[in-house]
Amino acid sequence: MSAHGTAQPMTARKSGPLQGTALVPGDKSISHRSLIFGAMALGETKVTGLLEGQDVLDTAKAMQAFGATVTRHGLGEWSVLGVGVGGFQEPADLIDCGNSGTGVRLIMGTMATSPMTVTFTGDASLRKRPMGRVTEPLAGFGTQAYGRKGGRLPMTVVGAAGAKGIRHTLKVASAQVKSALLLAGLNATGETVVIEREPTRDHSERMLLGFGAQVNVEKSAEGNIITLTGQPQLRAQSVAVPRDPSSAAFPVCAALLVEGSDIFVPGVSQNLTRNGLYLTLVDMGADIEFQNPRTEGGEPVADLRVRFSDNMKGIEVPPERAPSMIDEYPILSVVAACATGKTVMRGVKELRVKESDRIDAMARGLEACGVTIEEDEDTLIVHGLGAGNVPGGATCATHIDHRIAMSFLVLGMASKNPVSVDDASPIATSFPIFESLMTGMGARLTRENH
Ligand code: S3P
Repeated sequence: MSAHGTAQPMTARKSGPLQGTALVPGDKSISHRSLIFGAMALGETKVTGLLEGQDVLDTAKAMQAFGATVTRHGLGEWSVLGVGVGGFQEPADLIDCGNSGTGVRLIMGTMATSPMTVTFTGDASLRKRPMGRVTEPLAGFGTQAYGRKGGRLPMTVVGAAGAKGIRHTLKVASAQVKSALLLAGLNATGETVVIEREPTRDHSERMLLGFGAQVNVEKSAEGNIITLTGQPQLRAQSVAVPRDPSSAAFPVCAALLVEGSDIFVPGVSQNLTRNGLYLTLVDMGADIEFQNPRTEGGEPVADLRVRFSDNMKGIEVPPERAPSMIDEYPILSVVAACATGKTVMRGVKELRVKESDRIDAMARGLEACGVTIEEDEDTLIVHGLGAGNVPGGATCATHIDHRIAMSFLVLGMASKNPVSVDDASPIATSFPIFESLMTGMGARLTRENH
């Protein structure tokens, strides 16, 4: 089943050297946030480099439903005329966040302290994902939520009037939950304090500061203590969205695995809350040069030169690295299959509640391609076969999950036999130009007819 319409099967075949420059689209996390913070600010926020993936387009539509004016001016160039903190209007209809967990959870936080009733839904993947992780702590503000069994969408959320700030320690390492609480805290009186034991991506904190909120982050023995002062007046900003390191991971890993490749990937985030995959690849022996470190759009970035690396070795990925590479385990497991020895990924049970159960999806697909896997609830172990040795020759199920689809297509570029995916259409949620970008560098990807 496809995210938005009919399934699009696709096949990747052993590819020639990948060469050229990979200009990956804008960061998904920052794109969502630029629209949401823009909607909560007074005045016109101008955004450049916005990711025009379906997830972000669904958030743009939602912000319109809450009363902001969202306008597209050209590729990646958008503006948001915001309504100010507390200025949201009650949407006249359902809010459909499509495939996006980030979209729905952040928007729930955003409306949670405004007196209005909103019903959220999404596609078949999003309707399976847990929302209780957001609505339970939001109850501290007085927000009520009525969903399906297990806290699933569709869910109706009743925002609280006159909410007061809360103090909450996160039960899961989740930037979505942290951000939802900070967004709710914006329209509450007093301070909202969120404590995270393990650092997760910090884009909300950085951007809230940029939009003029008072946010203080204190590092303590308990973890990061994030304190937001409620009811600020957010000021419209110009946001230059940097390129997405999670999308860059696909051309980077493809180049590491496809014989003879040598590619350039400019502007990849080196934000310590996002760069775990890149550290891990270097630990495995990947040939990546980090050139021209600088700041772009408020984020530390570098240009990456990536060359085919035929002697990568399996490693134990440090579990404390998980939050900084949580979206990259599917593609890492493909790299692991092409490395020698075992790659052990522990502390990864969050992968079970992403767009799909990513441990299960990767394990089944890799096994079908001839790779030995061990797994338990919180662990994935891949027994690598060495560069060029993965048999391939299977069709892998993507379960409406963009990163599963891209991961198996990268595997097919470096396997002995072609690898197909049953549905590549979800790739449009985060990396709509994946196919043209990869084929432009020499990847052999073909769409299959039904
Ligand atoms: C995101 C946080 C992560 C990540 C997701 C984007 C964000 O989710 O997997 O793709 O933008 O805050 P969790 O907060 O569930 O870890």
